Amino acid sequence: MNSLKGKKIVLGITGSIAAYKSCLIIRQLIKRGAEVQVVITPAGKEFITPITLSALTSKPVISEFFSQRDGTWHSHVDLGLWADAMLIAPATASTIGKMANGIADNMLITTYLSMKAPVFIAPAMDLDMYAHPSTQRNLSTLQSYGNHIIEPGTGFLASKLEGKGRMEEPENIVSQLEHFFEAQSAPATSSDLSGKKILITAGPTYEKIDPVRFIGNYSSGKMGFALADECANRGAEVTLVCGPVSSAMQLSSPTVKRVDVESAQQMYEACHSQYPCMDAAILCAAVADFAPETVAEHKIKRTGDDMVIRLKPNPDIAASLGAIKSPGQALIGFALETNDEESNALSKLRKKNFDFIVLNSLQDKGAGFQTDTNKISIISAEGKEDFSLKSKKEVAKDIVDKLQHIMAK
Ligand code: CTP
Repeated sequence: MNSLKGKKIVLGITGSIAAYKSCLIIRQLIKRGAEVQVVITPAGKEFITPITLSALTSKPVISEFFSQRDGTWHSHVDLGLWADAMLIAPATASTIGKMANGIADNMLITTYLSMKAPVFIAPAMDLDMYAHPSTQRNLSTLQSYGNHIIEPGTGFLASKLEGKGRMEEPENIVSQLEHFFEAQSAPATSSDLSGKKILITAGPTYEKIDPVRFIGNYSSGKMGFALADECANRGAEVTLVCGPVSSAMQLSSPTVKRVDVESAQQMYEACHSQYPCMDAAILCAAVADFAPETVAEHKIKRTGDDMVIRLKPNPDIAASLGAIKSPGQALIGFALETNDEESNALSKLRKKNFDFIVLNSLQDKGAGFQTDTNKISIISAEGKEDFSLKSKKEVAKDIVDKLQHIMAK
């Protein structure tokens, strides 16, 4: 089946020498039955002419906000609603930086900011520019917004930069889009999670000290969000109980029910009201183990003396759910360890009555808080499985595969 047939693609072209390859992308998209609307930056036009592009797409190329001097203007909002996908190929460091930071000074960026459809970005620049921390940071930011980065090679990992920078070949870019639409339209398989109810916790918790201060941690929530999307994509009814995460954290699946909480106590209550009717829970949140014994009513003032905050233990959500777990229910935990990883994880597995535990070691580069990647081991009564460093989305697939496997038993 040709998954691109009838798909409406906004193709953003920017000022890179690779702009000529856009013609090949257009040809392949059109050959597969897609409709293509080009939006080009002013710099892009230095590399390829709008006449060539409009001849290939049979549509006028959009570049300026105003098409003529008669007051008619192009609506980026309409384009955002029209498209089934936006592809920016080639994407220069400058455009990537503007996209990551919302600098809407041309039609391509305004279109991107109003885009309702998935966005694919194929970077093209020399290796030094690509490897620069600011480009890497901007790409990570765009990835955290749910944008798809298309690059030569296997993954978007700073450690694998060699040979990177050149835009991915047009046929591979088009086949990535094709795979994306294929996966979207794929019918649910028999090994999926439809009909299953899954509770997931994600993010940090904040424990109030006074009206303006709290105790928190660096958890971003990325792993929990990836798990929620993965379970929902496989047909599960997902409830995500989520601590205070950045507003940039968005779910791609519209079906996930999100319950926002702040403190460990609130997370505990939300989980206990949900778990009894769930088939499984994945406890990915970095729950604060302690909270201030009392919360000051007013902002605490500096007195010149030492400041002592007495902490009381928070409830252990995982252990309390493990204690009420009924036969047929699954419970999955996480352990972030800095030393004696395996034995600590094993003792948590038993203590909290988990079916398996996902171990991250802070000794592994690219694993843990705030990163887009993770390196895990899965430990269960049957033993330990090690996985390689992957994007959190890919890691979520491995974890949900394992969950599906134990739920099928
Ligand atoms: N967890 C929880 N409630 C808590 C603390 C932890 O549900 N109050 C869950 C986490 O979501 C994770 C697992 O328990 O799935 C392990 O968390 P971790 O903080 O590593 O375990 P602790 O029992 O707090 O052990 P440690 O002494 O290492 O902090």
